[in-house]
Amino acid sequence: MQIAFLGLGAMGAPMARNLIRAGYRLTVWNRTPERAAPLVAEGARQAATPREAVAGCGIIITMLADPDAVRGVAGGPDGLLAGAARGAIWIDSSTIGPTAARELAAQAAGYGVRFLDAPVLGSVPQAEAGELVFLVGGDREVLEEVRPILSVMGRAIHHMGVAGQGAAAKIVSNMLTGSYLALLGEGLGLAERLGLDRGQMLELIRQGPFGAPILERKVENLRTGTFQPAHFYLRLMRKDLELALAESQRVGLPVPAARSALGVYRDAEAAGRGDEDFAAVVDFAAAGGRPTGTSAGG
Ligand SMILES: NC(=O)c1ccc[n+]([C@@H]2O[C@H](COP(=O)([O-])OP(=O)(O)OC[C@H]3O[C@@H](n4cnc5c(N)ncnc54)[C@H](OP(=O)(O)O)[C@@H]3O)[C@@H](O)[C@H]2O)c1
Repeated sequence: MQIAFLGLGAMGAPMARNLIRAGYRLTVWNRTPERAAPLVAEGARQAATPREAVAGCGIIITMLADPDAVRGVAGGPDGLLAGAARGAIWIDSSTIGPTAARELAAQAAGYGVRFLDAPVLGSVPQAEAGELVFLVGGDREVLEEVRPILSVMGRAIHHMGVAGQGAAAKIVSNMLTGSYLALLGEGLGLAERLGLDRGQMLELIRQGPFGAPILERKVENLRTGTFQPAHFYLRLMRKDLELALAESQRVGLPVPAARSALGVYRDAEAAGRGDEDFAAVVDFAAAGGRPTGTSAGG
């Protein structure tokens, strides 16, 4: 079976590589074409446009930065929808939120393309190991058709409901993760200002009720104070908090704690930390919400 894979960033590249290694034939496309070279070396065919990439493919997978990136790759004369065969299945694993996912599902249906929103839990190490967790929205029958493909890239697949519900579950999850790390930074910062040892406090938090798998994944970053290379860019977590805030506004639920967390990410990005791993928000908040090395005052 020929699969088109569009978007070969930090997550897309290892996901695509696992499909090649599982024996699937891949056509790949990336906005910056040079990034496709390692996959071409492993046997993928490279296309010049999204439209060309999807020609003759029954399955299309996108793993792109944000809603506008997916819209841009989907639409227009060179877009994937212009080239997709009727009946093809388009799996979008980008984190784009439910509103954009439903919009794209409707657009795809107009072309006879079956859409699944299938964002993932897990980061680069899980993508490399084929241990992502897929949160899927869309027809269950369509999901069953692609389950073997998702199983190559992931260890678990959850059907969350109709189109958009996988995307909804993902942004709720990241709203919690993003808010947690911002708050963790404030806690460590306060501990330090109160004269406590940061390392000792971190160990206490790990072993207490606030210990969490995400903290375990980031503990080495926090211990060493290094946040590059990034597994998940801070600016992408800011985007996910914005998506969650937009949805909360749409449904009329105030989420003041998450709104505050978003403010911390925006400040960190304005301080030049957007291309660091999102765990840098801990460092940023602990330092008083100013660029590292300056004193926070107040
Ligand atoms: N990293 C993680 O831990 C993680 C975990 C779960 C979910 N996610 C989500 O997965 C998605 C991809 O994340 P990532 O970490 O792989 O990000 P990334 O490394 O920044 O890769 C982003 C990809 O999107 C492409 N892109 C960006 N803007 C575009 C545009 N306007 N038109 C066409 N292509 C565009 C990039 O192309 P270029 O190469 O040309 O820049 C690249 O292929 C995001 O939605 C992210 O929120 C990430």
